[in-house]
Amino acid sequence: MLDAATGRTPPVLAGIDPYDTATVIDPYPFHAALRDLAPVVLLKDYNVYAVGRHAEIQQILDNWQDFSSASGVGIQDIRRPGKFRIPSRLVEADPPGHTEVRAAVTKILSPRLIRSWRDLFEREAAARVGEMLDRREFDAMEHLIEPYVLKVFSTAVGVDLPRENVIAIGEMRFNQTGPDNVLYRGAMERAEPYLDWYEHSVDRVGVLPGSIAEQIYVAEDRGEIEAGVAKSLVRTLVGGGTDSTIAGLGACFHHLARSPGQMALAVADPMLMRTALDEGIRMESPFQVIYRTPNRDVDFAGFTLEKDRKLGLWLGAGNRDPRKWDNPDMFDLRRNPAGVHVAFGTGMHVCIGQMIARLESECLLTEFARRVKTVEPAGESLPRPMNQMRQLRSIPLRVTPQ
Ligand code: HEM
Repeated sequence: MLDAATGRTPPVLAGIDPYDTATVIDPYPFHAALRDLAPVVLLKDYNVYAVGRHAEIQQILDNWQDFSSASGVGIQDIRRPGKFRIPSRLVEADPPGHTEVRAAVTKILSPRLIRSWRDLFEREAAARVGEMLDRREFDAMEHLIEPYVLKVFSTAVGVDLPRENVIAIGEMRFNQTGPDNVLYRGAMERAEPYLDWYEHSVDRVGVLPGSIAEQIYVAEDRGEIEAGVAKSLVRTLVGGGTDSTIAGLGACFHHLARSPGQMALAVADPMLMRTALDEGIRMESPFQVIYRTPNRDVDFAGFTLEKDRKLGLWLGAGNRDPRKWDNPDMFDLRRNPAGVHVAFGTGMHVCIGQMIARLESECLLTEFARRVKTVEPAGESLPRPMNQMRQLRSIPLRVTPQ
């Protein structure tokens, strides 16, 4: 627990709106302004606090006693009338409720189960990379990353994931966690035709035998998970693990193509690709921001944070904080930032699926480094702007084989 309140209010960060579309597309000036002004600032237009320095983000994520997840990890306080929605029993829960559910899911996502998917992931990676080598020029999102992740993750999790549906629903979900703005409204409109699919996408009848989803339903049957919770848990896993891994791999390919020296290192030693995902998501954190809410007036970093006023932790800013990293804007495969960057969160809610995301990425990226000699941009990468998630829509690439 922290000291008694000092009464000092964090300074207002004015003149830059993190949820403006142009800022969402290029958030780095906002990140710098946020980090430079103070350890905690106030975003007046949204009536929320914001934190962009690595050390303070970590401290807050490690302090669930004072900074709760139960009012939602997006900008809206989901306990408020008009904003109410049923919270995820994992991401948007505090102990003791969180502890029990997390233990049940951790038991299912055992290292043994995850290792059992390696053959499938490697086979699929080999097929996809082979196809790209035949083409020589391709869109890494549409032709490589999306089909690969949608195939391997949907098999592991046990839920069918058609591309158009995933994209439309992902855009809805990762805009919904931001303010009611033009990005949010556009995404809601595009998601409309897919809402019925979304509602039934994780129903028990459709899930694959032996998959994560089936095991969660079985855990509910056995009473290891409270009755009625399995479906929303499967939804949390699918929602947490699909778009984020696609975004993270996108960041890796985007930067590899723009860093010939790094690609040469990977070609010489494909094992370097085992930690490439961590460097990719440090550079372009898929979850740019996650929220917490002070449970009481809390004294933090010299300021008093008011009870119930939401606090945005800008993971993307912390992951390029020069107080923490040397050459923070450089994509460096030898950096190996795993366990230090905050793109998977940290503390009690640290990403429960990170080993799956790492295995998916390792298989695809090591295969790429074994068979490709050079990779370069074949055009500009295009953004898919979302309030919360940083993801590219298109990454045109040109490759030469080894
Ligand atoms: C590159 C890919 C991924 C990134 C960047 C990512 C990022 C994150 C972050 C930042 C959190 C912390 C949220 C918080 O503290 O409020 C988190 C939690 C979580 N992630 Fe991931 N994730 C990824 C992949 C996955 C995968 C593949 C799965 C599913 C198998 C998954 C499922 C979850 C779940 C269920 C939680 C909530 C855990 C809890 O609250 O105890 N994630 N993830």
